[in-house]
Amino acid sequence: MKLSVNIDHIATLRQARRGIEPDPLEGAFEVLKAGADGITFHLREDRRHIQDKDVYLLKEKIKMPLNFEAALSPEIVDIILEIAPEETTLVPEKREEVTTEGGLDVIASEKRLLNAIPRMKAKNILVSLFVDPDETQIRASKNYGADAIEIHTGHYAALSDPLEIEKEWNHIKDMVLFARDLGLIVNAGHGLNYENTQKIALIKEINELNIGHSIISRSIFTGLHQAVKDMLKIVKG
Ligand code: PXP
Repeated sequence: MKLSVNIDHIATLRQARRGIEPDPLEGAFEVLKAGADGITFHLREDRRHIQDKDVYLLKEKIKMPLNFEAALSPEIVDIILEIAPEETTLVPEKREEVTTEGGLDVIASEKRLLNAIPRMKAKNILVSLFVDPDETQIRASKNYGADAIEIHTGHYAALSDPLEIEKEWNHIKDMVLFARDLGLIVNAGHGLNYENTQKIALIKEINELNIGHSIISRSIFTGLHQAVKDMLKIVKG
């Protein structure tokens, strides 16, 4: 199982002062030095953390896989096509949310997906859709031409009752197998931390976990290198 580290919150801290530190590019180098398999970033329409210049610098300097998370707005889709990252993960986005709140409604986004996905695939960009663990959304992802899905683990991560956790974990596992059997690459992420990732990492059919907030949070106390290494130990078993 691979770990792609989301570096958005390095930029969040920088943007708190609108200055130059901490630098997400430097963070990306540090994350990769610690052994992560790739870098994820989300260029939001409101540019609250990652800025356009970060995206261009990451593309120029980082030689490991980049996963460009973004909403399906025409302006952002044009940037994805220009940058041509190894992978793009398409997410829903609301300006008032503090973070991505749920999976993409693939069916409601049909027109925009059918317009964007073929253009992305023509640039050799692997297209992943961030979806709730829901059969209808997963099947539609396959039907509209996605290569991969990222299963939203936010609901699982928010649970505290062991029985409910077990039930949601079983559901996620079923949906991972369902997607895999359709021929989709299956990633997962959102809300994963040093406690709840271990159980998700038992689902060996998951290709990659995308984790950000918990790693950047821990890095304040341990340094980024150690925070990534600690998470890699969990992800790689
Ligand atoms: N996957 C997706 C699609 C996301 O939008 C985010 C948050 O940017 C993450 C994973 C990472 O979530 P977290 O920061 O909670 O680890």
